[in-house]
Amino acid sequence: MLELREVEAPQPRPDEVLIKVAAAGVNRPDLAQRQGHYQPPPGASSLIGLEVSGTIAEVGTEVSNWEVEDPCIALLAGGGYAEYAVAPASQVVPPPLGVELVAAAGVIEVAATVYSNLELADLADGDVFLVHGGAGGIGSFAIQYAKSLGATVITTAGSEEKLRYCLSIGADRAISYRGDWAAEVREAAGNGVNMILDNMGAKYLGDHVQLLAADGLLAIIGVQGGRSGTLDLWSLMQRRGIVTASLLRFRPVAEKAAICRGLVERIWPLIADDTIKMPPLTVFPLAEAAAAHARLESGDNIGKIILSVAR
Ligand SMILES: NC(=O)c1ccc[n+]([C@@H]2O[C@H](COP(=O)([O-])OP(=O)(O)OC[C@H]3O[C@@H](n4cnc5c(N)ncnc54)[C@H](OP(=O)(O)O)[C@@H]3O)[C@@H](O)[C@H]2O)c1
Repeated sequence: MLELREVEAPQPRPDEVLIKVAAAGVNRPDLAQRQGHYQPPPGASSLIGLEVSGTIAEVGTEVSNWEVEDPCIALLAGGGYAEYAVAPASQVVPPPLGVELVAAAGVIEVAATVYSNLELADLADGDVFLVHGGAGGIGSFAIQYAKSLGATVITTAGSEEKLRYCLSIGADRAISYRGDWAAEVREAAGNGVNMILDNMGAKYLGDHVQLLAADGLLAIIGVQGGRSGTLDLWSLMQRRGIVTASLLRFRPVAEKAAICRGLVERIWPLIADDTIKMPPLTVFPLAEAAAAHARLESGDNIGKIILSVAR
């Protein structure tokens, strides 16, 4: 259940800013938190919400790079579904050029997750990249960023409409995950997949290891398909495969700050020049957060869901 309540506005610590929220992005981890499966890190707000856009309302005593009224977007460890949110100043950045404030609310969580993981692979021209759910938040961003790095991009989706959408934003192959997707990926990839950005986890672990190219990277970022599986170490060794697993939300502020700087330098220009296009948006008022979650859970959504905070 999600309902609107009056609570005290948060106060910024010396290295934080207070943001008057214009809009908050809705992400799949929010559903897990609502269901009680994903507790916020120690010290973070207990309210749901990993990203917001808005304007600076107050700056902490040690903050010198932001001023009141500046438009901004922020990567949060929680607290985004609200009229006011606090964030370390180093996790607050200007919106990408040309993206209006409500749409900008849905950019930073996926951009930071995709960028920080793709950094690990150093993808180059001709490398093969696989991401599941290419019509979702992470998937649609990952397709476009991997393409911009020169990779051949294979993705999966659950409906014809979503498969068409994946191709329209640049995927080289879009495969239904309702069939033998692994066989189709194997055929499309030739010598294997150089990087898999894995939002599925256990359910696909065996197939993913088999699909890796020599020195390939399996970067696990989600467990929609379960937390525990069997890792075939021999197959991994034969490929000199690398497996990583990470949660952006639990990374220390200094690491998130470095990722945010990377976004502004490397990713925002790609959004500004339309190399990475903003996904279709579905906007709900904050008071209808429950309906927004139901929409994401339905599996019918393409692109990002945003909560607008009207005043
Ligand atoms: N580790 C991190 O730091 C981090 C940060 C953010 C998100 N995540 C994770 O990333 C994942 C995606 O998040 P999101 O916000 O992008 O959610 P989303 O927009 O709801 O996307 C989820 C995607 O999963 C796809 N999917 C569902 N069942 C599938 C299956 N059996 N095989 C292949 N794909 C399947 C869906 O495809 P269809 O729509 O076509 O059915 C959908 O596109 C979540 O697991 C989330 O927890 C991790």
